[in-house]
Amino acid sequence: MNIRMLALVLPLTAPLSGHAGSVEELLAGYQRAGAGPFRAEQGEKLLVQPGQGEANAEGNRCADCHTTDPRQPGKHLKTNKPIQPLAPVANPERLQDADKVEKWFLRNCKGTLGRPCTPQEKGDFLTFLIQLR
Ligand code: HEC
Repeated sequence: MNIRMLALVLPLTAPLSGHAGSVEELLAGYQRAGAGPFRAEQGEKLLVQPGQGEANAEGNRCADCHTTDPRQPGKHLKTNKPIQPLAPVANPERLQDADKVEKWFLRNCKGTLGRPCTPQEKGDFLTFLIQLR
């Protein structure tokens, strides 16, 4: 590839690599913590797995706020506040910021499952989200 072609290609690929970067870094981190390989089907199951734990006597699931299709907007089950879709294909702002992803995983997993999600669960869930079209 000559220099002129590079100049054309780089500006197009740069914004995409920023996005893929943080998800890839998260997945690599989960693998260093002992997880993997990741499976989208398992991630999809997490969404509808019945909730448990002291803070969740009603057994609320991830899907009760995020719906069973992460391409659709959800709604907070207690406050009714709208929640934008989790899948990057429907909402390009998703999964851009690794700290934000971890913060919400911690909060939502504790609230839903009564414990933090494991690196395997988080990797499966992100793998599920990013393969949706
Ligand atoms: C009580 C409602 C509720 C439940 C249940 C819930 N979430 Fe969320 N979730 C939210 C809210 C509110 C946000 C943050 C607001 C936003 O970003 O739209 C959020 C954000 C997230 C994000 C952040 C994505 C990003 O980078 O912007 C992920 C990932 C996520 N939730 C996954 C889950 C998983 C997995 C479960 C089940 C273990 C779950 N959520 C259960 C309400 C909920």
